Amino acid sequence: ELHRIPHPPHRLPFLGDVIGASRRTPLQDSLRHAPALGPVFRRKAFGKEFVFVWGARQVADLADETRFAKHVGLGVANLRPVAGDGLFTAYNEEPNWQLAHDVLAPGFSREAMAGYHPMMLAVAGRLTDHWDGALAAGRPVDVPGDMTKLTLETIARTGFGHDFGSFERDRPHPFVTAMVGTLGYAQRLNTVPAPLARHLLRGAARRNAADIARLDATVDELVAERRASGGGEGDLLDRMLATAHPRTGERLSALNVRRQVITFLVAGHETTSGALSFALHYLSRHPEIAARAAAEVDAVWGDAARPGYDQVAKLRHVRRILDESLRLWPTAPAYAREATVDTVLAGEHPMRRGAWTLVLTAMLHRDPEVWGADAECFDPDRFEPAAVRTRAPHTFKPFGTGARACIGRQFALHEATLVLGLLLRRYRLVPDPAYRLRVTERLTLMPEALRLHLERRPTGR
Ligand code: HEM
Repeated sequence: ELHRIPHPPHRLPFLGDVIGASRRTPLQDSLRHAPALGPVFRRKAFGKEFVFVWGARQVADLADETRFAKHVGLGVANLRPVAGDGLFTAYNEEPNWQLAHDVLAPGFSREAMAGYHPMMLAVAGRLTDHWDGALAAGRPVDVPGDMTKLTLETIARTGFGHDFGSFERDRPHPFVTAMVGTLGYAQRLNTVPAPLARHLLRGAARRNAADIARLDATVDELVAERRASGGGEGDLLDRMLATAHPRTGERLSALNVRRQVITFLVAGHETTSGALSFALHYLSRHPEIAARAAAEVDAVWGDAARPGYDQVAKLRHVRRILDESLRLWPTAPAYAREATVDTVLAGEHPMRRGAWTLVLTAMLHRDPEVWGADAECFDPDRFEPAAVRTRAPHTFKPFGTGARACIGRQFALHEATLVLGLLLRRYRLVPDPAYRLRVTERLTLMPEALRLHLERRPTGR
């Protein structure tokens, strides 16, 4: 039935729809094509054909877990050599998915999160020290760079009791370099026709193997330290090493623990870092919205030096700013769904069992039929409770859907709301007037080369 799905007009034999396409921004290319092609379309690129879905009705149908499930393909499958059967890259039917999900889910409960809160505050304190230094020196801050340091230190510290020393180093920790290398490699694999990949990427493949070895070695060290010390304070690593499945009594194997640690270090920081960076970009461009949010922080936190766990969820306006940033730039901009039975998508598109499609979240979030004619504008009031209640379900999906949706959602939202609150209370963000938002695509999205100047708020702590 593929032939009935629209595709861009100028097709080349073999290479496909590459005219005007950029290898570096495949997602933004798809966004450009989407409005003209409609809610379900296909693009052929680099020898592969992909079907994209972004219409609200179709995406809602794909959320039906009795007929559809996560599809591990493309970028996700390319990460299997490094993340194996870890939570994010596991196939649905792999027994280690359910086992790890059940063992680790309590690590994201309210109680667990309240336990991470003081460590999150401590890491955020290193960020504000760093920013105070930039402010005193009259230097702008490197937003994506600093947010990535912050989120990496947060997940390493709260999850694994580890400190990469990101804020104290001139160059990234070798673990980080290896991680960026292997993510970049996974992305590049998608842009090379499969039969040529081995040939074209031979050198890159060798470097990738070295990167993976570096990741494995770092994690093995971390685990050995923990085993030697006899346990931490009940963090994710303790859970991975010591918790048995509540029903079966089974535990994670040593190899699976390695996969999970890498999974959480990667999944737990890039996306959150991007979300914070986009939010700071928009706040710098909308001083009136920033002022309103800062006033909320002042009102809710007063001048408490260390806002408590419960005081974070009370920042409703700050949270809406984050939601609105994730609407325009969902930093994990797509997810894949496959039919688990022979079925018809949204009553129109027949799909055989195993057929799959990419949900273009970033486009779903800009559909004027859902978000109005001003869908491209930044407006956190779209997430006022009254507005949310009137919107159709499954129209805001930055964390994916169903059983395989993001396990770290509350973690990310707590961390990001806390940090935005601290920054809004302390600084006024001053944009470079010449800056135009450009978005870099790795596996996740990030505002490219975003620098901001800071001013100290007279009232802020
Ligand atoms: C899964 C987005 C933060 C850990 C996912 C998925 C999305 C997503 C869309 C589903 C992917 C798919 O269907 O293939 C985000 C965004 C974040 C964020 C936008 C931040 C703003 C985090 C954090 C953690 C985390 C902080 C860990 C602490 C995971 C894991 C999975 C996942 C382990 C796989 C879950 C499973 O399949 O069982 N995330 N995520 N994420 N995320 Fe997140």
